[in-house]
Amino acid sequence: DDTELARHFDRTIERDQRIEPRDWMPDGYRATMIRQIAQHAHSEIIGMQPEGGWITRAPSLRRKAILLAKVQDEAGHGLYLYAAAETLGADRADLTERLISGAQKYSSIFNYPALTYADVGVIGWLVDGAAICNQVPLCRSSYGPYARAMIRICKEESFHQRQGYELLMTMMRGTDAQREMVQDAVNRWWWPTLMMFGPPDAESRHTARSMAWKIKRHTNDELRQRFVDMTVPQAEALGVTLPDPRLRWNPERGHYDFGDVDWAEFKRVISGDGPCNAERIAVRRAAHEDGAWVREAAAAHAAKRARRSRQ
Ligand code: ACO
Repeated sequence: DDTELARHFDRTIERDQRIEPRDWMPDGYRATMIRQIAQHAHSEIIGMQPEGGWITRAPSLRRKAILLAKVQDEAGHGLYLYAAAETLGADRADLTERLISGAQKYSSIFNYPALTYADVGVIGWLVDGAAICNQVPLCRSSYGPYARAMIRICKEESFHQRQGYELLMTMMRGTDAQREMVQDAVNRWWWPTLMMFGPPDAESRHTARSMAWKIKRHTNDELRQRFVDMTVPQAEALGVTLPDPRLRWNPERGHYDFGDVDWAEFKRVISGDGPCNAERIAVRRAAHEDGAWVREAAAAHAAKRARRSRQ
Protein backbone atom coordinates (compact mmCIF):
# COMPACT_ATOMS: atom_id res chain seq x y z
CA ASP A 1 0.00 0.00 0.00
CA ASP A 2 0.93 3.68 -0.19
CA THR A 3 2.59 3.92 3.23
CA GLU A 4 4.78 0.92 2.44
CA LEU A 5 5.75 2.50 -0.91
CA ALA A 6 6.51 5.79 0.80
CA ARG A 7 8.67 4.01 3.36
CA HIS A 8 10.54 2.26 0.57
CA PHE A 9 11.13 5.62 -1.14
CA ASP A 10 12.43 7.16 2.10
CA ARG A 11 14.74 4.20 2.72
CA THR A 12 16.11 4.42 -0.83
CA ILE A 13 16.97 8.09 -0.29
CA GLU A 14 18.38 7.44 3.15
CA ARG A 15 20.71 4.72 1.85
CA ASP A 16 21.94 6.95 -0.98
CA GLN A 17 20.45 4.62 -3.56
CA ARG A 18 18.77 5.85 -6.73
CA ILE A 19 15.15 6.45 -7.53
CA GLU A 20 14.40 4.94 -10.96
CA PRO A 21 11.59 5.78 -13.41
CA ARG A 22 9.31 2.87 -12.45
CA ASP A 23 9.69 3.42 -8.69
CA TRP A 24 6.95 5.01 -6.66
CA MET A 25 7.80 8.62 -5.77
CA PRO A 26 5.90 11.43 -4.06
CA ASP A 27 4.12 13.77 -6.47
CA GLY A 28 6.22 16.66 -5.15
CA TYR A 29 9.45 14.79 -5.93
CA ARG A 30 8.30 14.09 -9.48
CA ALA A 31 7.22 17.71 -10.00
CA THR A 32 10.50 19.06 -8.61
CA MET A 33 12.55 16.75 -10.79
CA ILE A 34 10.57 17.67 -13.91
CA ARG A 35 10.96 21.38 -13.10
CA GLN A 36 14.69 21.21 -12.48
CA ILE A 37 15.48 18.91 -15.41
CA ALA A 38 13.31 20.94 -17.80
CA GLN A 39 14.89 24.23 -16.69
CA HIS A 40 18.29 22.63 -17.09
CA ALA A 41 17.46 21.31 -20.58
CA HIS A 42 16.07 24.69 -21.66
CA SER A 43 19.27 26.35 -20.39
CA GLU A 44 21.41 24.09 -22.55
CA ILE A 45 19.30 24.82 -25.63
CA ILE A 46 19.04 28.59 -25.09
CA GLY A 47 22.72 28.51 -24.06
CA MET A 48 23.68 27.77 -27.67
CA GLN A 49 22.65 31.27 -28.71
CA PRO A 50 25.14 33.70 -27.11
CA GLU A 51 28.13 31.86 -28.53
CA GLY A 52 26.46 30.37 -31.60
CA GLY A 53 26.47 33.84 -33.12
CA TRP A 54 30.28 33.76 -33.17
CA ILE A 55 30.68 30.54 -35.16
CA THR A 56 30.72 32.34 -38.51
CA ARG A 57 33.06 35.01 -37.13
CA ALA A 58 35.64 32.83 -35.35
CA PRO A 59 39.17 34.23 -35.79
CA SER A 60 40.69 30.99 -37.13
CA LEU A 61 39.74 27.55 -38.36
CA ARG A 62 40.94 26.05 -35.08
CA ARG A 63 38.78 28.36 -32.99
CA LYS A 64 35.83 27.69 -35.26
CA ALA A 65 36.17 23.90 -34.93
CA ILE A 66 36.37 24.19 -31.14
CA LEU A 67 33.37 26.50 -30.88
CA LEU A 68 31.28 24.40 -33.27
CA ALA A 69 32.01 21.28 -31.20
CA LYS A 70 31.10 23.06 -28.00
CA VAL A 71 27.80 24.43 -29.25
CA GLN A 72 26.88 21.00 -30.63
CA ASP A 73 27.63 19.47 -27.22
CA GLU A 74 25.12 21.86 -25.68
CA ALA A 75 22.42 20.70 -28.09
CA GLY A 76 23.27 17.13 -27.07
CA HIS A 77 23.02 17.98 -23.37
CA GLY A 78 19.61 19.53 -23.94
CA LEU A 79 18.43 16.38 -25.71
CA TYR A 80 19.69 14.01 -22.97
CA LEU A 81 17.98 16.14 -20.39
CA TYR A 82 14.65 16.25 -22.24
CA ALA A 83 14.91 12.45 -22.46
CA ALA A 84 15.52 12.29 -18.69
CA ALA A 85 12.41 14.46 -18.13
CA GLU A 86 10.42 12.08 -20.35
CA THR A 87 11.24 9.19 -17.98
CA LEU A 88 9.13 11.08 -15.42
CA GLY A 89 6.15 11.31 -17.74
CA ALA A 90 6.84 14.78 -19.14
CA ASP A 91 6.19 15.35 -22.83
CA ARG A 92 8.94 17.01 -24.83
CA ALA A 93 6.64 18.99 -27.13
CA ASP A 94 4.86 20.30 -24.06
CA LEU A 95 8.15 21.32 -22.41
CA THR A 96 9.21 23.18 -25.55
CA GLU A 97 5.85 24.95 -25.58
CA ARG A 98 6.36 25.97 -21.94
CA LEU A 99 9.80 27.35 -22.76
CA ILE A 100 8.66 29.49 -25.66
CA SER A 101 5.54 30.69 -23.86
CA GLY A 102 7.65 31.76 -20.86
CA ALA A 103 5.89 29.33 -18.47
CA GLN A 104 9.20 27.61 -17.62
CA LYS A 105 12.52 29.21 -16.83
CA TYR A 106 16.02 28.79 -18.19
CA SER A 107 19.25 30.02 -16.63
CA SER A 108 19.48 33.79 -16.15
CA ILE A 109 23.02 33.79 -17.53
CA PHE A 110 21.96 33.25 -21.13
CA ASN A 111 20.10 36.54 -21.20
CA TYR A 112 23.34 38.50 -21.46
CA PRO A 113 24.95 39.27 -24.83
CA ALA A 114 28.33 37.94 -26.05
CA LEU A 115 29.82 41.17 -27.40
CA THR A 116 33.35 40.17 -28.46
CA TYR A 117 35.34 37.00 -29.05
CA ALA A 118 36.79 37.39 -25.56
CA ASP A 119 33.27 36.65 -24.33
CA VAL A 120 33.55 33.17 -25.85
CA GLY A 121 36.59 32.60 -23.64
CA VAL A 122 35.00 34.09 -20.54
CA ILE A 123 31.79 32.11 -21.02
CA GLY A 124 33.90 28.94 -21.18
CA TRP A 125 36.00 29.85 -18.18
CA LEU A 126 33.39 31.39 -15.85
CA VAL A 127 29.97 30.20 -17.05
CA ASP A 128 31.00 26.64 -17.84
CA GLY A 129 33.21 26.66 -14.73
CA ALA A 130 30.14 27.56 -12.65
CA ALA A 131 28.10 24.92 -14.46
CA ILE A 132 30.69 22.28 -13.53
CA CYS A 133 30.74 23.42 -9.93
CA ASN A 134 26.95 23.08 -9.80
CA GLN A 135 26.70 19.87 -11.83
CA VAL A 136 29.47 17.63 -10.49
CA PRO A 137 27.53 17.11 -7.23
CA LEU A 138 24.41 16.43 -9.34
CA CYS A 139 26.14 13.24 -10.56
CA ARG A 140 25.09 12.00 -7.08
CA SER A 141 21.56 13.36 -7.35
CA SER A 142 18.93 10.87 -6.18
CA TYR A 143 17.09 10.51 -9.50
CA GLY A 144 18.97 7.87 -11.53
CA PRO A 145 18.48 9.07 -15.14
CA TYR A 146 19.38 12.66 -14.19
CA ALA A 147 22.47 11.67 -12.20
CA ARG A 148 23.71 9.41 -15.00
CA ALA A 149 23.15 12.08 -17.66
CA MET A 150 25.22 14.45 -15.53
CA ILE A 151 28.33 12.24 -15.76
CA ARG A 152 28.79 12.66 -19.48
CA ILE A 153 27.60 16.25 -19.41
CA CYS A 154 30.25 17.14 -16.82
CA LYS A 155 33.01 15.56 -18.88
CA GLU A 156 32.00 17.67 -21.86
CA GLU A 157 31.61 20.78 -19.70
CA SER A 158 35.18 20.38 -18.54
CA PHE A 159 36.35 20.49 -22.17
CA HIS A 160 34.27 23.66 -22.56
CA GLN A 161 35.87 25.22 -19.53
CA ARG A 162 39.37 24.34 -20.72
CA GLN A 163 38.86 25.73 -24.21
CA GLY A 164 37.69 29.01 -22.66
CA TYR A 165 40.65 29.27 -20.33
CA GLU A 166 43.09 28.41 -23.10
CA LEU A 167 41.55 31.04 -25.39
CA LEU A 168 41.90 33.66 -22.63
CA MET A 169 45.51 32.67 -21.92
CA THR A 170 46.27 33.14 -25.61
CA MET A 171 44.63 36.57 -25.66
CA MET A 172 46.43 37.61 -22.46
CA ARG A 173 49.74 36.85 -24.19
CA GLY A 174 48.69 39.04 -27.14
CA THR A 175 48.35 42.81 -27.51
CA ASP A 176 47.15 45.43 -25.01
CA ALA A 177 43.90 45.66 -26.96
CA GLN A 178 43.36 41.92 -26.54
CA ARG A 179 44.06 42.10 -22.81
CA GLU A 180 41.55 44.93 -22.53
CA MET A 181 38.94 42.86 -24.33
CA VAL A 182 39.45 40.04 -21.85
CA GLN A 183 39.22 42.34 -18.84
CA ASP A 184 36.08 43.99 -20.23
CA ALA A 185 34.43 40.59 -20.74
CA VAL A 186 35.38 39.50 -17.20
CA ASN A 187 33.87 42.72 -15.83
CA ARG A 188 30.58 42.04 -17.60
CA TRP A 189 30.26 38.31 -16.85
CA TRP A 190 31.51 38.02 -13.26
CA TRP A 191 28.37 39.09 -11.38
CA PRO A 192 25.86 37.35 -13.67
CA THR A 193 27.93 34.15 -13.23
CA LEU A 194 27.52 34.35 -9.45
CA MET A 195 23.75 34.61 -10.02
CA MET A 196 23.73 31.26 -11.84
CA PHE A 197 23.82 29.47 -8.47
CA GLY A 198 20.37 30.81 -7.64
CA PRO A 199 19.02 33.08 -4.90
CA PRO A 200 20.64 33.20 -1.44
CA ASP A 201 19.71 30.17 0.69
CA ALA A 202 17.40 32.22 2.87
CA GLU A 203 15.31 33.07 -0.20
CA SER A 204 15.55 29.78 -2.06
CA ARG A 205 12.11 28.20 -1.88
CA HIS A 206 13.17 24.75 -3.08
CA THR A 207 16.54 24.14 -1.45
CA ALA A 208 15.49 22.62 1.89
CA ARG A 209 13.09 20.13 0.27
CA SER A 210 15.51 19.29 -2.55
CA MET A 211 18.36 18.75 -0.07
CA ALA A 212 16.19 16.41 2.03
CA TRP A 213 15.35 14.43 -1.12
CA LYS A 214 19.05 14.51 -2.12
CA ILE A 215 18.13 16.04 -5.46
CA LYS A 216 20.51 18.86 -4.53
CA ARG A 217 23.66 17.94 -2.61
CA HIS A 218 24.75 21.47 -1.65
CA THR A 219 22.91 24.73 -1.16
CA ASN A 220 23.10 27.65 -3.59
CA ASP A 221 25.35 29.69 -1.27
CA GLU A 222 27.71 26.75 -0.63
CA LEU A 223 28.27 26.25 -4.35
CA ARG A 224 28.66 29.99 -4.99
CA GLN A 225 31.39 30.14 -2.32
CA ARG A 226 33.11 27.07 -3.73
CA PHE A 227 33.11 28.68 -7.18
CA VAL A 228 34.58 31.95 -5.89
CA ASP A 229 37.31 30.07 -3.99
CA MET A 230 38.18 28.05 -7.08
CA THR A 231 38.16 31.01 -9.48
CA VAL A 232 40.24 33.63 -7.65
CA PRO A 233 43.58 31.79 -8.16
CA GLN A 234 42.66 31.15 -11.81
CA ALA A 235 42.07 34.90 -12.29
CA GLU A 236 45.46 35.60 -10.73
CA ALA A 237 47.15 33.10 -13.03
CA LEU A 238 45.47 34.72 -16.03
CA GLY A 239 46.34 38.24 -14.92
CA VAL A 240 42.78 39.62 -14.83
CA THR A 241 41.03 41.49 -12.02
CA LEU A 242 37.67 40.27 -10.76
CA PRO A 243 35.40 43.36 -10.51
CA ASP A 244 34.75 43.18 -6.77
CA PRO A 245 36.63 45.51 -4.40
CA ARG A 246 35.43 43.46 -1.41
CA LEU A 247 36.96 40.22 -2.66
CA ARG A 248 39.61 39.08 -0.18
CA TRP A 249 40.86 35.97 1.57
CA ASN A 250 39.41 35.47 5.03
CA PRO A 251 41.82 33.26 7.00
CA GLU A 252 39.29 32.71 9.81
CA ARG A 253 36.65 31.34 7.48
CA GLY A 254 39.16 29.70 5.18
CA HIS A 255 37.26 31.20 2.22
CA TYR A 256 37.23 34.34 0.11
CA ASP A 257 34.82 37.04 1.25
CA PHE A 258 33.02 38.72 -1.61
CA GLY A 259 30.65 41.63 -2.25
CA ASP A 260 26.86 41.62 -2.56
CA VAL A 261 25.26 40.24 -5.68
CA ASP A 262 22.64 42.58 -7.19
CA TRP A 263 19.60 40.40 -6.49
CA ALA A 264 17.25 43.02 -7.94
CA GLU A 265 18.98 42.53 -11.30
CA PHE A 266 18.65 38.74 -10.92
CA LYS A 267 14.91 39.04 -10.28
CA ARG A 268 14.49 41.29 -13.31
CA VAL A 269 16.35 38.88 -15.55
CA ILE A 270 14.49 35.75 -14.42
CA SER A 271 11.15 37.50 -14.73
CA GLY A 272 11.81 38.19 -18.41
CA ASP A 273 13.34 41.64 -18.37
CA GLY A 274 17.05 41.00 -18.94
CA PRO A 275 19.11 42.43 -21.80
CA CYS A 276 18.38 39.57 -24.25
CA ASN A 277 15.33 37.67 -22.95
CA ALA A 278 13.01 38.70 -25.78
CA GLU A 279 15.60 37.93 -28.44
CA ARG A 280 16.46 34.51 -26.97
CA ILE A 281 12.84 33.41 -26.93
CA ALA A 282 12.13 34.86 -30.38
CA VAL A 283 15.07 32.93 -31.87
CA ARG A 284 13.97 29.70 -30.15
CA ARG A 285 10.39 30.17 -31.31
CA ALA A 286 11.47 30.78 -34.91
CA ALA A 287 13.71 27.68 -34.86
CA HIS A 288 10.80 25.62 -33.54
CA GLU A 289 8.42 26.91 -36.22
CA ASP A 290 10.99 26.47 -38.98
CA GLY A 291 11.50 22.89 -37.84
CA ALA A 292 7.81 21.95 -38.05
CA TRP A 293 8.27 20.25 -41.44
CA VAL A 294 11.08 18.07 -40.03
CA ARG A 295 8.85 16.86 -37.19
CA GLU A 296 5.98 16.21 -39.63
CA ALA A 297 8.26 14.33 -42.03
CA ALA A 298 9.73 12.22 -39.20
CA ALA A 299 6.24 11.36 -37.92
CA ALA A 300 5.06 10.44 -41.43
CA HIS A 301 8.13 8.27 -41.93
CA ALA A 302 7.61 6.51 -38.59
CA ALA A 303 3.95 5.86 -39.45
CA LYS A 304 4.93 4.40 -42.84
CA ARG A 305 7.50 2.10 -41.24
CA ALA A 306 4.97 0.96 -38.64
CA ARG A 307 2.45 0.16 -41.43
CA ARG A 308 5.09 -1.79 -43.36
CA SER A 309 6.13 -3.82 -40.35
CA ARG A 310 2.50 -4.81 -39.77
CA GLN A 311 2.07 -6.06 -43.36
N1 ACO B 1 18.34 31.38 -13.56
C1 ACO B 1 17.01 31.22 -13.72
N2 ACO B 1 16.21 30.76 -12.74
C2 ACO B 1 16.79 30.48 -11.56
C3 ACO B 1 18.16 30.61 -11.33
C4 ACO B 1 18.96 31.10 -12.40
N3 ACO B 1 20.26 31.30 -12.28
N4 ACO B 1 18.44 30.23 -10.06
C5 ACO B 1 17.27 29.89 -9.51
N5 ACO B 1 16.28 30.03 -10.41
C6 ACO B 1 14.86 29.80 -10.21
C7 ACO B 1 14.60 28.38 -9.76
O1 ACO B 1 14.57 27.50 -10.84
C8 ACO B 1 13.26 28.52 -9.07
O2 ACO B 1 12.29 28.65 -10.10
P1 ACO B 1 10.70 28.31 -9.97
O3 ACO B 1 10.43 27.85 -8.60
O4 ACO B 1 10.04 29.59 -10.30
O5 ACO B 1 10.46 27.29 -11.01
C9 ACO B 1 13.43 29.85 -8.37
O6 ACO B 1 14.40 30.58 -9.13
C10 ACO B 1 13.86 29.72 -6.92
O7 ACO B 1 15.19 29.19 -6.80
P2 ACO B 1 15.59 27.93 -5.90
O8 ACO B 1 14.52 27.66 -4.90
O9 ACO B 1 16.96 28.14 -5.40
O10 ACO B 1 15.56 26.76 -7.00
P3 ACO B 1 16.37 25.40 -7.10
O11 ACO B 1 16.35 24.66 -5.82
O12 ACO B 1 15.86 24.69 -8.31
O13 ACO B 1 17.91 25.84 -7.36
C11 ACO B 1 19.45 25.75 -9.24
C12 ACO B 1 18.28 26.51 -8.55
C13 ACO B 1 20.67 25.80 -8.35
C14 ACO B 1 19.73 26.46 -10.56
C15 ACO B 1 19.01 24.27 -9.45
O14 ACO B 1 17.77 24.21 -10.12
C16 ACO B 1 20.02 23.47 -10.23
O15 ACO B 1 21.03 23.06 -9.71
N6 ACO B 1 19.70 23.16 -11.53
C17 ACO B 1 20.50 22.34 -12.39
C18 ACO B 1 21.58 23.08 -13.07
C19 ACO B 1 21.11 23.99 -14.18
O16 ACO B 1 19.94 24.14 -14.47
N7 ACO B 1 22.04 24.62 -14.86
C20 ACO B 1 21.69 25.44 -15.98
C21 ACO B 1 22.72 26.45 -16.24
S1 ACO B 1 24.29 25.77 -16.60
C22 ACO B 1 24.41 25.46 -18.25
O17 ACO B 1 23.48 25.12 -18.87
C23 ACO B 1 25.74 25.65 -18.92
